[in-house]
Amino acid sequence: MPASSPLVELNALTKTYREGDQDRTVLRDVSLHLDRGAFSVLMGRSGAGKSTLLNLISGIDLPTSGRIRIGGTDLTEKSETERTKFRRTNIGFVFQSFNLISTLTVAENVRLPLELAGNTPRADHDRAQAMLDRVGLADRADAFPDRLSGGEQQRVAVARALTHDPLLVLADEPTGNLDYETGQAVLTLLGDLVRDTDTTLLVATHDPEVLPRADRVLHLHGGTLHEEVPEYVGASR
Ligand SMILES: Nc1ncnc2c1ncn2[C@@H]1O[C@H](COP(=O)(O)OP(=O)(O)O)[C@@H](O)[C@H]1O
Ligand SMILES: [Mg+2]
Repeated sequence: MPASSPLVELNALTKTYREGDQDRTVLRDVSLHLDRGAFSVLMGRSGAGKSTLLNLISGIDLPTSGRIRIGGTDLTEKSETERTKFRRTNIGFVFQSFNLISTLTVAENVRLPLELAGNTPRADHDRAQAMLDRVGLADRADAFPDRLSGGEQQRVAVARALTHDPLLVLADEPTGNLDYETGQAVLTLLGDLVRDTDTTLLVATHDPEVLPRADRVLHLHGGTLHEEVPEYVGASR
């Protein structure tokens, strides 16, 4: 892929869910380019379609019409198996409810994306340990997730999202289950880690506190996407 082309290219995306004999259009003609290394925030109230859009960008779901290219790869032309493989290699996720696997230790959770990508166990161990160090939890490697606070669990989730060095990290309401200060600390950590590695980050939230950290602020409303004027964006970075 030429260095100048955007990492994420969405062209005229439409998503319609069918419920019984009713059609419900959640996204209408959504087009967007995200540059490599950009930190973008996707705002919109509950039900606006933020999670739907993230699920399309990650290839979990397919649009009703339109195209999705990530790093030049057209996900809408791929089979589900190919999209899963692409996602495991190129995308990291952070969820509202942390989604750590409770029967695995902290280190095993962080190692999981590496195992799925088929790395060697020794390299996996070292990489996971290095990531836990970056999020300040190296000493909790052998603990199980339920021994950790919400903020600590989300820091583990941040380490897991970045451990396989993805092109793109998608975070869906990552501060939604955290108190204000803990949420800010997690966002700062996530922002610093992606900036250090030139990873592209898209955070869906209805929390305006995320805005000062972002390069771009996008709003979903009535199924369409609007970009906020630049003067206010990144002002306090
Ligand atoms: N699998 C689905 N089937 C039918 N409707 C869905 C499905 N997923 C989401 N929706 C509907 O799409 C709309 C957008 O949902 P969602 O993307 O979860 O919004 P947000 O993440 O912004 O809260 C909601 O009205 C929701 O009920
Ligand atoms: Mg959502």
